Amino acid sequence: MSAGPMARTRFARREKSERPVVPGGFPLAGPRPAVDGGGAVPAHVALIMDGNGRWARARGLPPIAGHRAGAEAVRHSVTAAIEHGVQYLTLYAFSSENWRRPPREVGDLTSLLRFYLRHKLQELHEQGVRLRAIGELERFEPALREELERAEALTARNTRLTLTLALSYGGRAEIARAAMRLAELVRDGLLAPEQIDEERLAGQLSTDDIPDPDLVVRTSGECRLSNFLLWQSAYAELMFVDTLWPDFDAAAFGRVLADYARRERRFGGR
Ligand code: IPE
Ligand code: IPE
Ligand code: MG
Repeated sequence: MSAGPMARTRFARREKSERPVVPGGFPLAGPRPAVDGGGAVPAHVALIMDGNGRWARARGLPPIAGHRAGAEAVRHSVTAAIEHGVQYLTLYAFSSENWRRPPREVGDLTSLLRFYLRHKLQELHEQGVRLRAIGELERFEPALREELERAEALTARNTRLTLTLALSYGGRAEIARAAMRLAELVRDGLLAPEQIDEERLAGQLSTDDIPDPDLVVRTSGECRLSNFLLWQSAYAELMFVDTLWPDFDAAAFGRVLADYARRERRFGGR
């Protein structure tokens, strides 16, 4: 398989996956759709952690203070997810559009991420969390990428909760990259165009080894996806809550799970 210009990104790193590969090097698709089939507890919860800026502004503080409080809040959702038996938690921490923010805020955010990884890694490891990152990671400074790689390596064998951090992540870019990878396979004679289907495309996404989210929650009252897991959320239950992310605690997590348990998922059927 030829390595395109984005070969170092997480979007394109799946060929390293240990999952079975069919002749021609094509990885088989992952365990989609969502694994719980509408059970009471969602197998995969994805959170759009929004509202740090407003939380800080309400206190007369700079944005970084909100991001710091937001990083602290992550702990509540991780612990609550484990307690409720959620197997996959995905956190939207930095979008591909967030590079448009003032350089100072971007710098503060990446420093915070590094700090958080360094200081919380042991605790996550002890909780049995497997940590991974998706997104255009090569856009970050090497120091952060190294921290991420260290965290992934240390926690690779943990099985209690798979915690995916979406960093410099954009759903459209991810789908476009998957299309490019399929085009490369066709060009190299490893795939016929008529073999391209949903499973094969999904197999080229950065999430190919985790199920689709059952529940996508956005905090802070904004009702949009902002380019998060566009393909994967096709049949997710969507929830928009007013709580600002730094205030989203274990009780708030419990409330969205309770709301989820009351929903009826039909997947187009009767
Ligand atoms: C979410 O909080 C965190 C990131 C996008 C990194 P915001 O910083 O977007 O908070 P608001 O939307 O301005 O309140
Ligand atoms: C979405 O929040 C991205 C993250 C939470 C990381 P934004 O605050 O960046 O989204 P918009 O700009 O309001 O759509
Ligand atoms: Mg926001």
